[in-house]
Amino acid sequence: MANTILVGAQWGDEGKGKIIDVLTERADIVVRTQGGNNAGHTVFIGPQKYVLHLIPSGILRKKKKCVIGNGVVIDPASLVGEIDGLAKLGVSVNGNLFISETAHLVFPYHRELDAHREVLKGKNKIGTTKRGIGPAYGDKAARTGLRMIDLINAERFEQKLKLKIKENNEILKAFGVAPLSFSKIHKIYREAGDRLAPFVTNTVVLLHKAMERGADILFEGAQGTFLDIDHGTYPFVTSSNTTSGGACTGSGVAPNRMDKVVGVMKAYTTRVGEGPLPTENAEISDLLHGMGREFGATTGRARRCGWFDSVATRHATMVNGIDEFAITNIDGLDTVNTIKVCVAYKVGSQKVNYMPSDVEVLARCEPVYKEFPGWLTPTDKAKSYKELPKKARDYLEAISDLSGSKLTIASVGPAREQTIFVD
Ligand code: GDP
Ligand code: IMO
Ligand code: MG
Repeated sequence: MANTILVGAQWGDEGKGKIIDVLTERADIVVRTQGGNNAGHTVFIGPQKYVLHLIPSGILRKKKKCVIGNGVVIDPASLVGEIDGLAKLGVSVNGNLFISETAHLVFPYHRELDAHREVLKGKNKIGTTKRGIGPAYGDKAARTGLRMIDLINAERFEQKLKLKIKENNEILKAFGVAPLSFSKIHKIYREAGDRLAPFVTNTVVLLHKAMERGADILFEGAQGTFLDIDHGTYPFVTSSNTTSGGACTGSGVAPNRMDKVVGVMKAYTTRVGEGPLPTENAEISDLLHGMGREFGATTGRARRCGWFDSVATRHATMVNGIDEFAITNIDGLDTVNTIKVCVAYKVGSQKVNYMPSDVEVLARCEPVYKEFPGWLTPTDKAKSYKELPKKARDYLEAISDLSGSKLTIASVGPAREQTIFVD
């Protein structure tokens, strides 16, 4: 399969987990390279649902190696909980999971700061997952973070944590938050550290040795292009590079070792949290929510829904270098009479066909739509591309063309079998 980067081409929750699970069959190693347990990647195997937060979705296929790379921020207790949750479902990570020694850690003070900064922002809040992701990456950038390598060194960890708790209790005081207990946090983290220590290693060397042996690596992106700290709808973004470059910096595998970029996108658009969403639409939101769909895998929040936005996905193709698209949730549009696709924006009297960088301008953009006739036929049982209704194929080809790359995977349901490879 060669080395493949998979990214979300929209605002996250595009169905990356499902596509990763399908592509893992052809890979040797799956690597998460950024984000933390803000991610929620859903995979169905038969009737069993799995939601992965920190562990790569490849873990569900036996014998595949999974790596949590240096670019990820890890909440150790949450990771232990995820490992135990998988074990209860009969999935073992022993021998398959490797954690970067240089991945940064998330602490309770990060979560407190995340929550209280949101309160302070009031109506301008980001709508974060409150997992402490922003403050943890903040510490990393400020060079004051603690890493896995610290956690598994008992003496060093105790010293560093003491200072961090002291510093953060001063900051939390300003928010009116009661001080955090060093001993309580220390105990929880040391226990988690002991559980995780056997998995911690130099994952950069591991990945390069595997490449020397000819291994194929799949890089599992988290979040989506427009949540990228640099290329997203700042400040309504997450705190990592969710675009394809993040796969390199977050793993230590260089750009010239990458062979392909796959962009995953829904046949429509969703976003969870605040920030502009030009094609947001009540009709399609009500339809999808009425079907029990589009509720967040991490926080359970109802996702905001809208029509497909090809101005946005064209931008995603540009910044990620997308070679191929996997389009998911095609079946979500099975009952829609007339399907709209945004092909340009109108800002005042001006028509633009790119995404404005200024979020305040983007918020004023009005979509210019092209209409497509709905296929009004269930697609969830289609086994091949030609079994899809002609109108569905026309729609998929049009949105791929408008987005600037080619369609290779069409997904018509959450299950592995509901995946069509397009020649
Ligand atoms: P991720 O964060 O990108 O991995 O996506 P999520 O798992 O958060 O959300 C995607 C949702 O869509 C999950 O509930 C998936 O089970 C579901 N899903 C993925 N592809 C399809 C599809 O083609 N059809 C349907 N009906 N559901 C899908
Ligand atoms: P997956 O990997 C969708 C959103 C949050 C919020 C913003 C910042 O499942 O696609 P954060 O907690 O990261 O500081 O929140 O980013 N967000 C996601 N939205 N899918 C995700 O991950 C997300 N991870 C974060 O809702 O708007
Ligand atoms: Mg998700």
